[in-house]
Amino acid sequence: MTALTVSTAAAAALPAQCVAIGVSASSAGPVAAPGAEAVHEAFGGGLVATLSSLGFTGAEGETLKLPAPPGLKAEVVLVVGLGEAADDGGVSREALCRAAGVAGRALAGVERAALALPAGTAEAAEAVAMGALLGAYAFTDYRVPVASPVGELVIPAAPATHEETTAGVRHGRVIAEETNRARDLINMPANHLTPDAFAAIAKDLGERYRLDVQVLDEEALAKESFGGILGVGQGSVRPPRLVRVAYTHPEAEKTLAFVGKGITYDSGGISLKPVGFNEIMKRDMSGAAAVLASVAAAARLRLRVNVTGWLALAENMPSGSATKPGDVLRMYDGRTVEVRNTDAEGRLVLADALVRAGEEQPDALVDVATLTAAMKMALGHRVFGVMSPDPGFRAHVVDAAGRAGEEAWPMPLPAQLAEGLASTVADLANTGERMGGGLVAGLFLAEFVPAGIPWAHLDIAGPSFHEGDPYGYTPTGGTGCAVRTLVELSREAATEQSGASR
Ligand code: BES
Ligand code: MN
Ligand code: ZN
Repeated sequence: MTALTVSTAAAAALPAQCVAIGVSASSAGPVAAPGAEAVHEAFGGGLVATLSSLGFTGAEGETLKLPAPPGLKAEVVLVVGLGEAADDGGVSREALCRAAGVAGRALAGVERAALALPAGTAEAAEAVAMGALLGAYAFTDYRVPVASPVGELVIPAAPATHEETTAGVRHGRVIAEETNRARDLINMPANHLTPDAFAAIAKDLGERYRLDVQVLDEEALAKESFGGILGVGQGSVRPPRLVRVAYTHPEAEKTLAFVGKGITYDSGGISLKPVGFNEIMKRDMSGAAAVLASVAAAARLRLRVNVTGWLALAENMPSGSATKPGDVLRMYDGRTVEVRNTDAEGRLVLADALVRAGEEQPDALVDVATLTAAMKMALGHRVFGVMSPDPGFRAHVVDAAGRAGEEAWPMPLPAQLAEGLASTVADLANTGERMGGGLVAGLFLAEFVPAGIPWAHLDIAGPSFHEGDPYGYTPTGGTGCAVRTLVELSREAATEQSGASR
């Protein structure tokens, strides 16, 4: 794992093999960003001219490695594009985070590097630290790495801003490390990450960060009549689990509950997915991964809020014991559901978990799920959908995502679409109209949310897993989507209360 430190030594004096600087783009050519002064001087004031003559513009994603001139401790200068700067020369937190991610990735193989990006405020330092650690991420548990991630990153801070930088770096580090934890879980193949193994990981994490972790195994689930979770898991030889992970703060005034879909593999069940649609269904536990990681982040940041995570874990497989289309399940709340399509399994495990989470009367309830291909079709690979019967709460979640650097978009829950969920044999069916399938799934979940609790549903089917080449701080594979949004919601709930600090 990449180490991250803050140093008051000037960037030029840092004993690092490489120093990374930021350069933004302008109509007048590339502009060296704050932090790059020492490097600029070492080039005899000619850095920008050199960059221009090499065709470097400062565009987002651009990188260039130069041999370091005398006067710098480093041997190599890494120049990273920050994109178009605002009129006052500033760049957004997200642009900074992405550029740091590009740097973190470009520094693979380097032992020690200095990140002389513009990180003058706590917020900017957080963005740089977070982006760099997210970019340096590599999933190498099952292979020999091509190049090991950068060993240590040093963020220089002027003595006057040292404290702020350190605080920002600490937050950025925790959020990035927890996002990387979610990525690891998503990338773990389904033969290794079974529901039981996932629950054991949650237990371990609980011991490490003093979280209260309770695991309901198949027997406990049967005793308490979790018919949705059991119905989805009964076709697999790897039995389902429901995990409750709670972080509590002694002075907390608010409690948030996060519920995650944790299908460790989604074959579709008897309504089997065809080849071409089942290859990366190990990703179907991305919601549960985000929930576990965000509870751990809240604990590590000691946020003044209670956060309870619920992981609804099951493997959806076809077999002689599997739930069949037409079967009727009795859910945890006592109502019955006709399973028309066993591939609409996420809503079944979530329904049980939502009802259980609601029993504790949290101040807000948010579920995260790779729920529908329809939402992926609608919003693509980088944006997740947010649904809620309460437009105010929906906007609150979308705004939090934006501030956290994630792309979210509000989606409706049209009442008329719920009509298709009527069944002739049970209280409800698990599928309805095909068109607007993401919204239909949201409407199904809404049926199980206790009245009076603000609730939002995040469908992350698109952005949970990145199949293309890495960009910014996003690697190929699990992205850790929604972790930053859940952490931002927790930070906000912690600050909303009287006089608390973040
Ligand atoms: N896990 C899938 C949704 C999914 C698809 C996630 C692609 C990520 C990428 C979910 O369980 C599913 O199969 N949904 C069905 C529902 C349908 C049968 C009503 C879908 O979206 O096709
Ligand atoms: Mn499915
Ligand atoms: Zn699924």
